[in-house]
Amino acid sequence: MKYINNIFTIEKSSLTKIIKKFETPIFCYSEKKIIENINNFKNSFKSFSPIICFSTKSNSNLKILNLIKRNGLGADVVSKGELMIALKAGINSKKIVFSGVGKTRPELIYAIDKNILLINSESKSEILEIESIAKSKNKKVDIGIRLNPNTDAQTIKQISTGKKENKFGVNEKTFIEISKYVKSSKFLNLKCLSVHIGSQILDYKPYQKMLNVLDKLIKKTKLNFEYIDLGGGMGIDYNKDNKKFNYRKYNQIIKNFLKKYNSKIIFEPGRSIIGDTAILISKIIYIKENSKKDFIIVDAAMNDFMRPALYGAEHKIIPLKKTNKMINKIYDFVGPICETTDKFLTTNKFQKLNEKDYIIICDVGAYGSSLASNYNIRPKPAEILIKGTKINIIKKRQKLQDII
Ligand code: LLP
Repeated sequence: MKYINNIFTIEKSSLTKIIKKFETPIFCYSEKKIIENINNFKNSFKSFSPIICFSTKSNSNLKILNLIKRNGLGADVVSKGELMIALKAGINSKKIVFSGVGKTRPELIYAIDKNILLINSESKSEILEIESIAKSKNKKVDIGIRLNPNTDAQTIKQISTGKKENKFGVNEKTFIEISKYVKSSKFLNLKCLSVHIGSQILDYKPYQKMLNVLDKLIKKTKLNFEYIDLGGGMGIDYNKDNKKFNYRKYNQIIKNFLKKYNSKIIFEPGRSIIGDTAILISKIIYIKENSKKDFIIVDAAMNDFMRPALYGAEHKIIPLKKTNKMINKIYDFVGPICETTDKFLTTNKFQKLNEKDYIIICDVGAYGSSLASNYNIRPKPAEILIKGTKINIIKKRQKLQDII
């Protein structure tokens, strides 16, 4: 994805071609970039060839999931809907893990009927529910227990999951108690120890601490796990300041861990696979001048792309056509929704913008379309997948009459 003759271009498709053909806002993905990310991820850990279950919540577009499946990944799901879409994308049920703190009985029944790889459970009550379903079907169900390792992931507070005050997983004491129970059950198979400490993690050290906690627990309990599910969370360089996650170090600490334990590693990456593979194109509707700054009112809003409003996340904004006429002026890029948090970014220096110009919001592949809503009765945007000069519509823009 780069500028060619001052026009932003994805693979071999210039975005001027896209804005002539499609309405905005629109999500555009690069197929090549998705495949490149998958291969890089696989290569980073090739010495122990983990099972890689793509985190469906980060992007649940059926066509994207199918592309990911064709490139060898499984899925991590957190609801019946995600499990259904992963299966529809062709992902083998034996490559699917089901996580989440509140899986309902109908969801668990569905997962058990589909014979998925693992149900990662997060409470004693849920274990009892799974056991009762398994008993009624006279089946033995493969289980993981999610540990809350009380590890600070040093990421945004709202997306941190591994500390004791977070609702996720169980503490060590409960883990030991539940594992004893599962071991003695005729209908449950304890196969996995799972963890996930948070998202957008850029430092490998929290993972090191997490692995030390696992190490101690396994030593203490002398339990044998066929699988260790380390979750996802590896961050990406949103600010383009070269703060990249150190895969080499992470690989090394896992390799050291595996010298002691003969388990298969499972990963559940979302953002690191899909985050930087897409942009959101938006058109400037109006420019409202103010004494201190100009409001650049664009046709995308927080319902289309939620991260800035929800977490204060900063996503770079760049022009679709570069002019190099830079001005030192404060621009507030905002959407049309009636909320003050419906704002994408403030910039101090940008090229001079005019009404009807197009801008690009960067790195929206993860938690972009999957978090979109119909707030203010706004239809969700279309999504296109670019492969060289080919443009495939992978989701049509919602129709207002369908929502209404
Ligand atoms: N596994 C589990 C159990 C998870 O809860 C998550 C994300 C993942 C894997 C994938 O994490 P990733 O590799 O994508 O970091 N909406 C927020 C992120 C929420 C993450 C929730 N769990 C955001 O836009 O930053």
